[in-house]
Amino acid sequence: MARTTVHVCSGCGAQEAKWHGRCPTCGAWNTLVEERIAPAAVAGARARGAPGRGRTRGGRPVSARDPGAGPVRLAEVGSAPLQRMSTGIGELDRVLGGGLVPGSLVLLGGSPGIGKSTLTNMVLGHLQAAGRRTLYVSGEESAEQVRLRAERLAGAEAALGVPVLAETDLDEILAVLAAERPEACVIDSVQTLRCGELSGAPGSVGQVREVAARITELAKTQGTAVILVGHVTKDGALAGPRVLEHLVDCVLQFEGERERPYRELRALKNRFGSTNEAGLFEMRQGGLVEVVDASARFVAEATRAPGSVVLAAMEGSRPLLVEVQALVAPSELEQPRRVVSGLDRNRLALVLAILSRHGRIATGRADVFVNVVGGVRLDEPGCDLAVALAVASASRGVPLAGSPRACFGELGLTGELRWVGHPERRLEEASKHGLGEVIAPAGSGEGAIEAATLSDALRLGLGAGERSERPARGAPRGRQTVALVADRAARGA
Ligand code: TYD
Ligand code: MG
Repeated sequence: MARTTVHVCSGCGAQEAKWHGRCPTCGAWNTLVEERIAPAAVAGARARGAPGRGRTRGGRPVSARDPGAGPVRLAEVGSAPLQRMSTGIGELDRVLGGGLVPGSLVLLGGSPGIGKSTLTNMVLGHLQAAGRRTLYVSGEESAEQVRLRAERLAGAEAALGVPVLAETDLDEILAVLAAERPEACVIDSVQTLRCGELSGAPGSVGQVREVAARITELAKTQGTAVILVGHVTKDGALAGPRVLEHLVDCVLQFEGERERPYRELRALKNRFGSTNEAGLFEMRQGGLVEVVDASARFVAEATRAPGSVVLAAMEGSRPLLVEVQALVAPSELEQPRRVVSGLDRNRLALVLAILSRHGRIATGRADVFVNVVGGVRLDEPGCDLAVALAVASASRGVPLAGSPRACFGELGLTGELRWVGHPERRLEEASKHGLGEVIAPAGSGEGAIEAATLSDALRLGLGAGERSERPARGAPRGRQTVALVADRAARGA
């Protein structure tokens, strides 16, 4: 039988009949990926082979372009307003840019156990209850397992109405999709599906790419909105979903720590909306629950002990108050620890350097731990001041002075406090939650306690309660645990 696949080097493009660990042409390692040969070349072979049920036009997505038409001026290109299907989950709709777009592909990535299947089950349940045709393809779990999960959900009646197909064979799945023509379909997960024409194992780069391409093609022609679920390990190491990012319209990342209830949904790419938005969920007994009053919760939970600072952050277009906590403890290591969660490690290094140079708070001999409470991840410049104040407050063992306070602002390398976006929305959110005093960069507007530099902010934040001695210096060294040392440091032992 004629060969239907070829191994292509992703570095130099050379084609090999067999897989090699090292490309014989360019010498690169691990670059050969199995691909299907263009359908025209194997059409004869396929006609002789088994009749491919539901098989579509082949490898790559084909656009529905009018073949005769030449280039068209952009102004003359017709554009109909996007139709969107509400998923019934407000936070998800917002991240998607208003709902699922028919014929679009959404890749939902996240580490195992984070709640991808739960979320997609809920989405299809809502859509099915709203009278849409849906299909849940489970390659990972049996139909019984999917049912058991659906029974746990708060909207169980809706979720149980969703048709499920437990199947891993790509041709079978495409045939069912073509026959059922669902308006929304979930493939859980793309790494478990297998295209019989490729010899690679499910989840290999070649398989994942082929599976996604064939599903994309069918989805676009029949207008099905598809959510492809994909696993990513903590460091994003698994090749699978990464190779799909260019192919799909929208990439969503579901994040959070398994041991903690909060989950964050972010758009990394979105052809139909902004990538700034993030949705916050909580995993509960009855499934995922949207957290709409996140600021209120985080402010109520904030300890306000030394090392605790409330940050008025922006999550996309939405203001969010979060608690940033720091712990500074004498280190026994040559290279003291810098442990950070919810923030960029390099950003912490930068803030520590600025604190040392412009705030006279040296942490070079101490372990520094910084945590954004609730598993929230911050990647906006406005968090610098909160990190600096939290570390300063922890290092000196004094809580933030004044009535309940919040802060925001970016630190410049010369110790200046820089203006950040949406100050009015941050201030409004803080005042709404009873934080009357907000330390903010100059020009932030009415209601802010403005500070031009880091040292201004430190004076405002740590104020009269600021102690001149560093408690850490007198704290005992030796075999004590970090927590104990820190505890003593906090009490000024
Ligand atoms: P799941 O959606 O299966 O994760 P993924 O598909 O990303 O691997 O759900 C993961 C966890 O969520 C699982 O450990 C159980 C928990 N869970 C709840 O706490 N409450 C619920 O109602 C459901 C359905 C799951
Ligand atoms: Mg799952």
